[in-house]
Amino acid sequence: MHVAAADSLLPAVVLISGEGSNLQAILDANLREPVLDLRAVISSRVNAHGLARARAAGIPVHALPATPDMTRTQYDAELAALIVPLQPALLILAGFMRILSAEFVAQFHGRLLNIHPSLLPKYPGLDTHRRALNAGETEHGCSVHFVTAAVDGGPVIAQARVPVLPGDSPQKLGARVQTREHRLYPQIVNAFARGRVKLENDRVWWNGQPLLKPRVLAWNEDLIT
Ligand code: GAR
Repeated sequence: MHVAAADSLLPAVVLISGEGSNLQAILDANLREPVLDLRAVISSRVNAHGLARARAAGIPVHALPATPDMTRTQYDAELAALIVPLQPALLILAGFMRILSAEFVAQFHGRLLNIHPSLLPKYPGLDTHRRALNAGETEHGCSVHFVTAAVDGGPVIAQARVPVLPGDSPQKLGARVQTREHRLYPQIVNAFARGRVKLENDRVWWNGQPLLKPRVLAWNEDLIT
């Protein structure tokens, strides 16, 4: 196992809302090759299973459920108040099922990554697997992108294709997409932590060059950095 000095690890915080399988993939990858100093996992739901995964990995956890009287701006201000003292250089959205306000996104500009279960710009929003099946797609996938104020609209870094197979249900297709997410997301996080990928002037830079279009990976292909 490659062991990095603690001061060379990138301070990071992960935001989740549920199962936390992408969080787990990031935790596992960070054990194999440590690049992140994971300072907290914050969940928008108190009973998110991902919180147990974080605890098991010895990472501090916070649950921040929204109350009915809270505006989005108020919620995001509380979220930022939890995050800022931790001084993360990276915020990883891993199934965080809330739309973030423009103020929050601006505050963490260039430090916010998200994974979305579709080949963006196709199928932003919810229920992506059902929508892809209903549209008769023969391939589907997942995308990792920098977060901007446009929901699921920030610059895409990389995406991975997933085949749609005969007899697929949204559940079956969703499970296949998630398997692929678990390979792709840790690889992008690793590339960000090593300074290979960044957002500058609203575009993605990869190894010092502007990325003219997202890296598109086949089902079985790994990202080469
Ligand atoms: C993932 O499939 C992710 O792509 C999706 O939520 C799931 C979370 O699963 N995110 C979105 O839909 C964001 N728009 P997990 O909690 O097991 O990682």
